[in-house]
Amino acid sequence: MKETIKEILTRQPPCAVAVVGWVKTTRITPKAVFLELNDGSTAKNLQVVVNPKDFELVQDKINLGSGVQVEGELVVSPAPKQPVEIMARNLVPIGEHDFENYPIQKKHMSLEFLREIAHLRPRTNTLSSAFRIRSTASYAIHKFFQERNFFYVHTPIITPSDCEGAGALFKVITVDTEESCSQSFFFGRPVFLTVSGQLEGEALALALGRIYTFGPTFRAENSNTTRHLAEFWMIEPEMAFFDLDETIQLAEELLKHIAQTVLETNIHDLEWLSKFNEIDLTRQLKGFVTSTMNKISYEDAIKVLLESGREFDFKPFYGGDLQTEHERFLSEEYFKGPVVVFNYPKNIKAFYMYNNDDNQTVACFDVLIPKVGEVIGGSQREHRYAKLYQRILELGLDPETYKWYLELRLFGSVPHSGFGLGLERFLLFLTGLKNVRDVIPFPRYPGHAEI
Ligand code: 4AD
Ligand code: MG
Repeated sequence: MKETIKEILTRQPPCAVAVVGWVKTTRITPKAVFLELNDGSTAKNLQVVVNPKDFELVQDKINLGSGVQVEGELVVSPAPKQPVEIMARNLVPIGEHDFENYPIQKKHMSLEFLREIAHLRPRTNTLSSAFRIRSTASYAIHKFFQERNFFYVHTPIITPSDCEGAGALFKVITVDTEESCSQSFFFGRPVFLTVSGQLEGEALALALGRIYTFGPTFRAENSNTTRHLAEFWMIEPEMAFFDLDETIQLAEELLKHIAQTVLETNIHDLEWLSKFNEIDLTRQLKGFVTSTMNKISYEDAIKVLLESGREFDFKPFYGGDLQTEHERFLSEEYFKGPVVVFNYPKNIKAFYMYNNDDNQTVACFDVLIPKVGEVIGGSQREHRYAKLYQRILELGLDPETYKWYLELRLFGSVPHSGFGLGLERFLLFLTGLKNVRDVIPFPRYPGHAEI
């Protein structure tokens, strides 16, 4: 197999190498031509030094963005900018490239502009770094769970149930279903794209003990914000015999494991993104993995907000949901770091959460991160049949839809808990980027699904 630039950069010079990649920059001087190559394997470019005479023969085919193959000698670079470089013996253009019309230019391009060319934007330093970190984070998540004896399960994407009860559903119908006909005949009942694999995950956790899902999730919220996507990726662990505290601890360990792995794996991506976002990401992530996450009950959080003396647009009150400005105050100003808020009032949370003894709150938690907001939502589940049934009725849900889910509470029903981590939200923290549309290759949001 061909060596990648990432691999070549670890080789001991001097040695013969062959490299393929795209031209990032060209600098022509009378004595030598300098090309910077990148092949996507790392944020680092590899400098190639070409004899001007050799370059002349191919120069009309070598431009910013074009493919090349180089054979030569890897040597210690005399310049301090890079430790090694290639003295080219042979430089061959590869493939086709219309430089005149290439939209990716060296001049600064806004992230908004790049979103319009989602098929080309992975070629920029910023987006490629974000996608490399996304890959590291995804692998780290699997590794974390696999090492702890969790089973990776696949829950359905097409489902009849609205897990979160928020009604933000995409309906699935066949192409030839009449527009006027609201029911899909294919499944004999209305079905939707899943908003969460949790309910099915619970069925599996009550058999396999510890499971996790990692898949696409869909929400038809018409929210044009920097934190909402119509299609995003969620990781949902579910554990039998876990209570809320054990679950919060697992969530903290997971987030730290991901951050630590990115610190170890993506040094150059973090360097680039730190420069781009004007923030010291290495420091931010190191600070995160070495500190203990703050924890506060919802009741105390409301007290903190009321006593803050801050004029909020929405006045906080006990029983009301935390607004973005409240979440930001708690994590960015009060705790100055990530915070877990637990035991919210039951009236603002989903039907499946465990009813606490006070009969007012449920055993749930959210993880809030500065500048990002909620990255995790989780809870202990109501495992007592009568209480769950009653809650379903209270909320006006149809017990028939949840028949199988209720039945889990009839047989071997034990306390169990889980949470959902929004991958894109946590990637904002890892990359310092500000919009979830920039950490998923082909973002789906209201009005956008072209590419
Ligand atoms: O808080 P949520 O709605 O929780 C659930 O879906 C539970 N069933 C999870 C569980 O207990 N198994 O969503 C979980 C997380 C949020 O904290 C957020 O990070 C992310 O999913 N999320 C979104 N990310 C991007 N775009 C959206 N529209 C999102 N909605 C939720
Ligand atoms: Mg939530």
